[in-house]
Formats: sequence, C-alpha cells, structure tokens
Amino acid sequence: MKIVDELKKHAKKIDATIILPEANIDERVYLAAKEILDKNISKLIVFGNPNQYDESFKSKNCTIIDILKYRDLDKFAFELFELRKSKGMTIERANELIRRPDYFAMMLLKFGQADGMVAGATWSTADTLRPALQVIKTKPGKPIVTGIMLMVKEGVNPLVFADVSLIENPTSENLSDIAISSAEFAEKVLKVEPKVAMLSYSTKGSASSEMVDKVRIATEIANKKSHYLIDGEMQVDSALDKATARKKGVISEVGGNANVFVFPDLNAGNIGYKLVSRLGGYTAIGPIMLNFNKPVNDLSRGSNVEEIINTICITKLLI
Ligand SMILES: CC(C)(COP(=O)(O)OP(=O)(O)OC[C@H]1O[C@@H](n2cnc3c(N)ncnc32)[C@H](O)[C@@H]1OP(=O)(O)O)[C@@H](O)C(=O)NCCC(=O)NCCS
Repeated sequence: MKIVDELKKHAKKIDATIILPEANIDERVYLAAKEILDKNISKLIVFGNPNQYDESFKSKNCTIIDILKYRDLDKFAFELFELRKSKGMTIERANELIRRPDYFAMMLLKFGQADGMVAGATWSTADTLRPALQVIKTKPGKPIVTGIMLMVKEGVNPLVFADVSLIENPTSENLSDIAISSAEFAEKVLKVEPKVAMLSYSTKGSASSEMVDKVRIATEIANKKSHYLIDGEMQVDSALDKATARKKGVISEVGGNANVFVFPDLNAGNIGYKLVSRLGGYTAIGPIMLNFNKPVNDLSRGSNVEEIINTICITKLLI
C-alpha cells in the first residue's frame, strides 16, 4: 500500500535503535527482525544467546544482549528501585524485575541505549505497557499516553482513530488531550492538516446527558488548549458527510471532512475501528502509543511479520 511504503521509506532514513525483546521467544518477531536487518531499515537490540540468531543478526546494526550477563544489571536494578520506591518497590523486587525482558528494556531506554521498543507479540497489552507507564512515563507537558489506530485503504486518505486501546473511560480533560495528541500525530507523521471530530451519539446539542456533556466539554477544553481544528460533539455521520453535518448544525470544516476521530470511551473506539476494518475494508495499523518519553508500541498477539515490521517503522517515526 502506497502510504505504508512511504512511511517505511521515511522510517528507514531515521537513525535509531529499536528494542525487540521477544525476538528470541517468538518466530514472527525473529523473522521481522531479520527482514529489518537484511533491508537495513533499523538498528535493533535483541535479547538472548547469540547462538539463537543467524548471520543477519551478526551485523553492526544489531546488538544481542544476554540480560543475565549484562554488566550494568545492578545499576539498572538500583535505578528501578529509586524510581519506584515511593510506590513500594524494594531493592529485592527491583533485582527480580530487572532480569525480566520488559523491565530490562525499559532501563535500556531510560539510560539512552536505545530509542524505542516494540513488544506484545506474546505479552498482553497491560503487561507490555505497564512497565513503560511506570518507568518511561510521558513527555513533558503530556499528561497521558493514548493508543491510536491508523486506518488505511488504497486510494483514500488515511484516518486516525483514538483512543482505541488504552484509556477505558476518559474524562473530558483526557479526551481533550487525546484529541490534541492525535492531531499532532496526523500533522507530524501523516503530513496532513488535522480535522478532529469529537464523536458522540449527539450532534451539537441534539441530545442531552452526562455522556454528551463529557464530549462537549472536552471539545471546549481542546479548543482552548490548541490551534487545531477540533469540533464536536458530533455523530459519526456528521463527521463523514458534509450535507448531514450542515443539516445538523456543524458549520466547521470538520463536518464531512474529518480525518481524526476521537471516540468517547474505549468500548466505542475499539468497536469502531474493528467495524471499519472488517466491514469497510480498511487496514488498521497500530495501536500506536503517543506521548511516551521514548516510543513504546504494543503488538497485537495476532500480528503477522508484516504488521510487526510496520509497527517498528511507525515507532521510529515517533522519535
Ligand atoms: C494500561 C493499564 C494496564 C494501566 O493500568 P494498571 O496496570 O492498573 O496500572 P495503574 O493504573 O496502576 O497505572 C500504572 C502507572 O501508569 C500510569 N498510567 C496509567 N495509565 C496511563 C496513561 N494512559 N497515561 C499515562 N500514565 C498512565 C499510572 O499513573 C501509574 O503511574 P504510577 O505507578 O507511577 O503512579 C490499563 O490502563 C489498562 O488495562 N488499559 C486497557 C488496556 C487494554 O486491555 N487494552 C485492550 C484493547 S487493545
């Protein structure tokens, strides 16, 4: 697909190192890593014993780390203890956790030895993201991490759906941050002018309830905090169709032209992107986690090799 090829081309130009902590335990990640190295798409760090890897991994672009033999293991454990002691972390527990690939990878990121991580082929979303939320945290000025989906289809413009994977029941403040971060992604990575629809079952006061108020207030907050074109609350038909938008009182450019869709909660977002993918023939790329201090992305456990490569490329684009 053209857009995916373009994103890959841009990603290849970025000089960065991505950690793939599951390359030695999952064949799909292994094959994705091999292709990344063979095609010179990224530098990588993988874990395990060098004997587990073939010639492609012996290149200067790949570092193989045997965690238990790593020289800075004690330093990493102490840093983890320091970071989390106010949350009840003990030095004994930190010494245990640092021997696990998830926490060890976070420390490599923390100490600047890598630029991003892609994992989750064998771990759940929560298990992949919790260490990153605890250790890597968010960029300055960004209170939340949000998980978006890039929806692509040949011949039509790409769309961004948010949040589809992380924040179960966002507040209005959270929704405004999701909207702004998604708009930034559309601008920076897709190079399009973001037009953000704040979705609801109501358009411009056609219904009234706490659920609608949440989205209306989120729209007000987002507009105060940013210069992006953000409008709502609106139903998805107003976001997609100009005539419907006009009939329902949406006068902004977002009506009928939306390219960023902010869903009111995780149920709606997750169901929404899967409907568009299954019934609308779009390919869903992601989830893509925005706002981590260093990009960390979570793979679906059903990912194939191509999807893993795409996620590695997107991760580079977030650096
Ligand atoms: C990601 C998730 C596991 C975090 O929840 P949790 O394990 O209960 O962890 P907590 O809520 O205790 O949060 C752990 C840390 O992450 C932080 N955090 C949680 N969500 C965050 C977010 N969206 N942005 C920034 N920080 C966040 C918390 O503030 C906390 O920090 P602290 O320990 O330094 O105080 C939870 O939000 C979740 O399960 N989401 C749904 C994910 C999912 O299943 N998706 C499936 C669809 S693909």
